[in-house]
Amino acid sequence: MNIYIFENEEGFVQTAANQITSLLNTNPYAKLGLATGSTPVPLYAKLIEMHRQGLVSFAGATTYNLDEYVGLPENHPESYRTFMNEKLFNHVDINIAQTHVPNGNVADLEEECRSYDQMMEQNGPIDLQLLGIGHNGHIGFNEPGDVLTSGTHVAPLQEKTRKANARFFPSIDDVPTHSVTMGVGSIMKARQIMLLIRGEDKAEIAQRALTGPITTECPASLLQCHPNVIVLLDQGAGRYFK
Ligand code: F6R
Repeated sequence: MNIYIFENEEGFVQTAANQITSLLNTNPYAKLGLATGSTPVPLYAKLIEMHRQGLVSFAGATTYNLDEYVGLPENHPESYRTFMNEKLFNHVDINIAQTHVPNGNVADLEEECRSYDQMMEQNGPIDLQLLGIGHNGHIGFNEPGDVLTSGTHVAPLQEKTRKANARFFPSIDDVPTHSVTMGVGSIMKARQIMLLIRGEDKAEIAQRALTGPITTECPASLLQCHPNVIVLLDQGAGRYFK
């Protein structure tokens, strides 16, 4: 694991963006695993800026998002499909047909999970998987517990996660109770993983995930077993590493 701590926001965001743009400049057909949440928003804004400056093209890229809420129509303002369209896809030259977000609003969710895995399996490994981390150590929506699931699956959201995400909804009752998420196995298959952690409120979980025991009770700790992970922390999240 390569861990970098940044003194300023600009360095953090630019380094994350450079990882993606250099990959796409070397391999225009790269497969990117993408995340939602607050953490990658400035990164997506930087990628849009770099695209406008002619520094990167997404024309050949294929993307797979980690997760989606169950029960929200794709065009719901808080669906992860809407998030990705608004925060990145609508502003770059990506072929929207090459962008994939699990659909959490279909009758047969099991089939949706199977076909999401099948599609990733057929197209070959993700070249770079972007991740954020939940306060409880979740990656994607793989919540802590006695067991973790390898493939894409329907997962209940813990109360802590629903509370954290309630900031985007009118009230906590409006936050979906379940998600469709890539499993830890799907995540670990990526050639490279880039984990972004920002904010003092993530300092404790950052330390547990990156230096603590590898356990299903902290799903992000499994990343310690992956051969090619880079972790970018801001000052707040990195406070226990100094
Ligand atoms: C989002 C995702 C989640 C978030 C995590 C952190 O697609 O899979 O694991 O990365 O909940 O969210 P933020 O960045 O909002 O703190």
